[in-house]
Amino acid sequence: MTQALLQLKGVRAGYGDAVVLNDISLEVADKSSLAVLGRNGVGKSTLLLTIMGFTRMTRGQIHWHGEDITHVAPFRRARGGIGWVAQEREIFPSLTVEENLTVTARPGHWTLERIYDLLPRMKERRGNKGNQLSGGEQQMLALGRALLTNPSLLLLDEPFEGLAPIIVEELAAAIRRMLAEQGTAFILVEQHAQMALALTENAVVLERGDIVHRARSDDLWKDHATLDRLIGLKVAEAH
Ligand SMILES: Nc1ncnc2c1ncn2[C@@H]1O[C@H](COP(=O)(O)OP(=O)(O)OP(=O)(O)O)[C@@H](O)[C@H]1O
Ligand SMILES: [Mg+2]
Repeated sequence: MTQALLQLKGVRAGYGDAVVLNDISLEVADKSSLAVLGRNGVGKSTLLLTIMGFTRMTRGQIHWHGEDITHVAPFRRARGGIGWVAQEREIFPSLTVEENLTVTARPGHWTLERIYDLLPRMKERRGNKGNQLSGGEQQMLALGRALLTNPSLLLLDEPFEGLAPIIVEELAAAIRRMLAEQGTAFILVEQHAQMALALTENAVVLERGDIVHRARSDDLWKDHATLDRLIGLKVAEAH
């Protein structure tokens, strides 16, 4: 059996005394992709924050390349190859696009040139300050900046939130290329099932801090009853 890139075993985590994730176990293989679906407030962002080490974990373990990183500090996890695009994009407002991209860059496949090739809009805006970008451009910048850290796993927290369809297409194309060109594994948190399931191999659905459904993404997309029941998506209308 090949070793998982990331493995969560019986993870319980939250903030202070509040338990948000109850008992989460999941695996992400190298060069694979996982969608995390679920309604508002079920703990999707908390799951990514827990993988980065920003929450209080009170049970279970997290393994990275087979090593226990449960007690490893967030910056070391980042340095070890876990990239994260927060739901709040955290663009540096007073730095230019190019400065935002390079400030946390590390050597690897993804160079500034390759990012500009992947996200041509960022090349056009390279001299603009972070606070002079549209919402969609900020989302592209956050993706580009995370890729430039050359992670082996990228955590994406609702990258399509609030974007116009044409920008969604642009970003989705970039994520597809990212996987095709470099095999960068990713976990994609999304409320919008259609895009998330089209972009990933496997999916889990969260409900009140637990995984209540696991499936291959293409199977879940065909499973109208489950989608409707768990995330309130009337797929017949969406198809
Ligand atoms: N910093 C925090 N301190 C305390 N509770 C928090 C904190 N962040 C989130 N929570 C709580 O944890 C629960 C899960 O929140 P989380 O942000 O993980 O949900 P989500 O699935 O990402 O929701 P959304 O789809 O709206 O982004 C919520 O009840 C929320 O109020
Ligand atoms: Mg969230």
